[in-house]
Amino acid sequence: MDKIIVTGNGPLNGAIPIAGAKNACLTLMPATLLSEDPLTLTNAPRLADIKTMTTLLQSLGAEVSSLQEGKVLAMSSHGIDSQKADYDIVRKMRASILVLGPLLARFGHAEVSLPGGCSIGARPVDLHLMALEAMGAELELKDGYVHAKVSGGLKGGVVDFPIVSVGATENALMAATLAKGTTVLKNAAREPEIVDLAQCLRKMGAQIEGEGTSQITIQGVDRLGGATHPVVTDRIELGTYMLAPAICGGEVECLGGRMDLVASFVEKLDQAGVDVTETANGLKVKRRGDRVQAVDVTTEPFPGFPTDLQAQMMAMLCTAQGTSVLEEKIFENRFMHAPELIRMGAKIDVHGGTATVTGVDRMKGAPVMATDLRASVSLILAGLAAEGETVVNRVYHLDRGYERVEDKLMACGAKIERVREE
Ligand code: UD1
Repeated sequence: MDKIIVTGNGPLNGAIPIAGAKNACLTLMPATLLSEDPLTLTNAPRLADIKTMTTLLQSLGAEVSSLQEGKVLAMSSHGIDSQKADYDIVRKMRASILVLGPLLARFGHAEVSLPGGCSIGARPVDLHLMALEAMGAELELKDGYVHAKVSGGLKGGVVDFPIVSVGATENALMAATLAKGTTVLKNAAREPEIVDLAQCLRKMGAQIEGEGTSQITIQGVDRLGGATHPVVTDRIELGTYMLAPAICGGEVECLGGRMDLVASFVEKLDQAGVDVTETANGLKVKRRGDRVQAVDVTTEPFPGFPTDLQAQMMAMLCTAQGTSVLEEKIFENRFMHAPELIRMGAKIDVHGGTATVTGVDRMKGAPVMATDLRASVSLILAGLAAEGETVVNRVYHLDRGYERVEDKLMACGAKIERVREE
């Protein structure tokens, strides 16, 4: 398993290109299942999770070609010959559940393995199932699989989500595009990835209104056609690299960055003493003083502070002046990076969903273990400003969500290398 070795090397200066969003791409890809005509995605990120979704779609009979070194995904679902998403693929990635709605909507039946738990909590799929039931699906859970069928096609309905779920909103939105009549999704997720999905589906011929608000209305159509669509910028990769100069000093321009994607995060950076300015090509980030100030952060659904930036924000607050309180409201058990940061000299107390971080002058390099995707990059960020060498083990998590991390940081002056191991 590969390791990444980071050595604190002072301020970072330069420009970092931000890729297309992993989480948007993972919902845009299953949208191909809704149509016989080709769907082409541009600005796709080159990541292990995208390969897993490619394998899953291919196992159903879809054609997926990776062009221009993976930046373009040309897909066609005219020859789908299976409606079964196998456990062996689904267990690798929870987003696999996103094939359920499209398969059911187009073919009237589907079998998808239940994803199971993951390192950041139980993460059930009950809301995905509730939404499809509201559109007339009959569901049975048997042998670890969801068996879904509907006679005569899905029918529009009202889905009132008890809590906001990104994935359940995406599954319901895709399914509703081919349902008969009108579907209303209430308390829908408002994430930019949902807006991106709705825009792509509209290009394919879907009739959708209200994406980006908490109520989305979909008028079902008989069939969808093909489209070409650029994947929206990855706001989590963007936020992650914006934290690099906040932690190390220097000035970094994140190319392709957009203020509207990270507004609540930028507000917290401002309170911590970090300037973010819009440029012609993206966002430029610079710390105002020698050290950032403590800030309190609560994770919330969009437009609130994203849970996917909580670990990275904690890495910054470890060396802030003062004490910060971080509250995790989306996922239980999402502080697994805290014990690793403590190994590097951080002062963190975790009680349930709250972490109290008291800033120290400087962290010290140590061997640490990546426990999930965002945790692993938070350890790299902390290592960039720590004294000495930090060895991040188990970086396969990182490769699920960040392309060419070492190259991007090295281009700004970071001392970072990957050690390949069998
Ligand atoms: C997506 C993102 C993930 C991000 C998360 C929250 C993808 C591939 N992943 O995950 O990176 O951290 O949004 O912004 O886009 N829940 C239920 N029942 C369900 C579904 C969810 O109780 O059927 C709960 C979850 O356990 C969690 C909350 O709802 O507590 C929000 O989860 P959700 O928005 O669904 O996250 P994902 O779509 O899985």
